[in-house]
Amino acid sequence: MKNDSFRLKIGTTYLEITSTESILECAIRNSIEMKHYCANGFCGACKIKLINGKVKLDHNGGISRANIADGYTLACCSFPLSDIEI
Ligand code: FES
Repeated sequence: MKNDSFRLKIGTTYLEITSTESILECAIRNSIEMKHYCANGFCGACKIKLINGKVKLDHNGGISRANIADGYTLACCSFPLSDIEI
């Protein structure tokens, strides 16, 4: 799998993230607290608003289609396809 590198902006903080790392994994690796529980796309606890950019969302029912249409995603199972801002 190709391992592209992107920039993740959280508030005023910029982080490096790769296409094989979830937003949650990147936050934890950088000691940024992010609400989560199952870390597997089931519970919805890690729901975040995607302000900019595109992600590959690979969830297990933890988010509704309406939420996705409104720009929300799950940090634990969202992998960047571009620079992203949350
Ligand atoms: S932590 Fe449960 S869906 Fe992300």
